[in-house]
Amino acid sequence: MKDLHFKRHRRLRQSASMRSMVRETQLHTDDLIYPIFVTEGTNEKNEVPSMPDVFQFSLDLVDAEVDEVVSLGIPAIIVFGVPNEKDDVGSQAYHDQGIVQKAIRQIKANHPDLTVIADTCLCQFTDHGHCGVIEGGKILNDPTLDLLAKTAVSQAKAGADIIAPSNMMDGFVAAIRHGLDEAGFEDVPIMSYAVKYSSAFYGPFRDAAHSSPKFGDRKTYQMDPANRLEALREAESDMEEGADFLIVKPALSYLDIIREVKDFSGFPIVAYNVSGEYSMVKAASQNGWINEKEIVLEKLTSMKRAGADLILTYHAKDVARWLTTDK
Ligand code: PBG
Repeated sequence: MKDLHFKRHRRLRQSASMRSMVRETQLHTDDLIYPIFVTEGTNEKNEVPSMPDVFQFSLDLVDAEVDEVVSLGIPAIIVFGVPNEKDDVGSQAYHDQGIVQKAIRQIKANHPDLTVIADTCLCQFTDHGHCGVIEGGKILNDPTLDLLAKTAVSQAKAGADIIAPSNMMDGFVAAIRHGLDEAGFEDVPIMSYAVKYSSAFYGPFRDAAHSSPKFGDRKTYQMDPANRLEALREAESDMEEGADFLIVKPALSYLDIIREVKDFSGFPIVAYNVSGEYSMVKAASQNGWINEKEIVLEKLTSMKRAGADLILTYHAKDVARWLTTDK
């Protein structure tokens, strides 16, 4: 044994304090963005069947939820609307009295310091469930851009602090930036869903937001999960068009993409830990098959290690609680 030469990596792992001194990645409550689903009517607090502990709230009940988020120290929420009325162009998405606009006004009035992000898309508001205008069974790119810009402007008018377009039409960042600037909202940043894959991990969200496409799928606008270089081209065009943050979505199966987009862009990167990733953990932990807290903290830490600056996650409230009680 005497002449054996090898490295002693275990020296730095021998105690909790030693491990904490050399820890490279730290999850903070400041990194978290919590999604909130708002719906019409009163006295509605409906649990999403495929997403335990996630609810749709009517506006009379949403304040209690937002109060809790704020008291946990989470700095931002993203608002998703579940409207009553849908039509072929998704006009409730850009109506000044639309559910999202009403929710933003109310939440900002009660919590001026909370950063409120608006998801900007048409699919929850169209009767066909697609993210754009349809003609002859085709999702049209350019006519959709005007509606997206209108939606973003009405959300900014309602008080949204950040616009987060998730529709994956080409040119959506340029169109939205132009629309916001013309309306006097030069200071409202765009958090672009720049790299959004066509993913089976969105299934539970579509239950929550009632936004499944009524025909076909989203493969002509969302990306093929097999592609890596295309992610860099998507990121590049959004950077050029004026995005301020870049989202990579989903997160867990796309950690390689998070790393590449971070290194390539140098932009603030948001990992979207999507609904299917949440539901898998919830289902397994409800069965007693895994330790929920350890799994969630490990997977969110891996997203930060991969290069994410922020994490959009349905686990945010639990994580904020765990991070405070564990200190
Ligand atoms: C709307 C939108 C979707 C998600 C966020 N915004 C659904 C989709 O593209 O089908 C998915 C979020 C999740 O799964 O948590 N375009």
